[in-house]
Amino acid sequence: MKVLVTGGAGYVGTVLVPQVLAAGHRVRVLDSLMYDQTILMNHFLDPKFEFIRGDIRDSDCLKTALKDVDCVIHLAAIVGAPACSKNPELAKEINYDAVVQLDKLRNRSQKIIFASTGSAYGAVEGICTEDTPLNPLSVYGVTKTDAEKQLLDSGNVVVYRFATGFGLSPRLRLDLLVNDFAFQAIKNGQLIVYEKGFKRTFVHVHDMSRAVVHALGNFDNMAGNAFNVGSEELNFTKEEVCLAIKRHVDYNLHFSEVGSDPDKRDYVVSYEKIRQAGFITNISLDQGVLEIIRGAVMLEDRTPFANVGSFPWLKQTTNGRRR
Ligand SMILES: NC(=O)c1ccc[n+]([C@@H]2O[C@H](COP(=O)([O-])OP(=O)(O)OC[C@H]3O[C@@H](n4cnc5c(N)ncnc54)[C@H](O)[C@@H]3O)[C@@H](O)[C@H]2O)c1
Repeated sequence: MKVLVTGGAGYVGTVLVPQVLAAGHRVRVLDSLMYDQTILMNHFLDPKFEFIRGDIRDSDCLKTALKDVDCVIHLAAIVGAPACSKNPELAKEINYDAVVQLDKLRNRSQKIIFASTGSAYGAVEGICTEDTPLNPLSVYGVTKTDAEKQLLDSGNVVVYRFATGFGLSPRLRLDLLVNDFAFQAIKNGQLIVYEKGFKRTFVHVHDMSRAVVHALGNFDNMAGNAFNVGSEELNFTKEEVCLAIKRHVDYNLHFSEVGSDPDKRDYVVSYEKIRQAGFITNISLDQGVLEIIRGAVMLEDRTPFANVGSFPWLKQTTNGRRR
């Protein structure tokens, strides 16, 4: 298959692209490189890889990108509630309007795998399944929910409502909860956490990518449906995440009454539907935390904004633990 990955230079995309190539497909990435990423460089030797630097809002660029493509994996977006709230008009243009345009410009035989989010549900009572009514609370949640509805109404689409990603990727995101908590514990030796009892749900970035490759291979059976992507084994309260990190990093943990999640995510999610479709995750929270601890040594122990190193713990230890 020839596959177009929009937003392929992002956190998920840079892990996904090699997996799609390894599955034997040809890959064209369309990305505006809004974070100045150069991390797909190592693929240019491969004739099965192509890159277009451009904006999904640009209809000419999108037409060129769609040429001869069998399936679009649509990742490009302004991602997360804080980033979308900062510029709601831009978020709507990219996360929703551009999806309407993509839907208009594709021919009906071109499949779409759409990256949606658990933020589509908002506050949920009881177990969250794909039949739970969507009630997004943030600009991010609203734009993604409107976009997935557009595509589901149009057809020939698989919608993935991903849990919160964690783990390392070439385009690292430290704003994701597990990554953020682990890095703060490692780097600052302390963590202040609000809404400690809120239940969240997670999925490793390698499993997010595996799920997309699974949809590519099983598209006809899955088409027309939305799936929660994650695992019941990765449903944890924020406090449980902190304690999982504490098993490996000695840090001071404080709980606060101040602060709240704009998406009000406090839910237990069922992944029965995607399991029935043949997909299960591989990577546990503990494996991801250890990966982050081990990978932290590759991050500069100086920041551009400080004259002294910011990871003193690295120099004091031999086993990755602060003393
Ligand atoms: N990472 C998660 O935890 C998570 C969870 C749920 C859903 N998702 C969804 O998965 C997708 C990928 O998320 P991510 O974590 O990789 O985010 P990311 O911000 O790392 O990647 C987004 C990519 O899109 C590109 N992009 C942004 N605007 C563009 C535009 N106008 N034209 C072309 N390219 C543009 C960026 O340059 C970037 O490479 C998103 O659609 C997001 O909503 C992610």
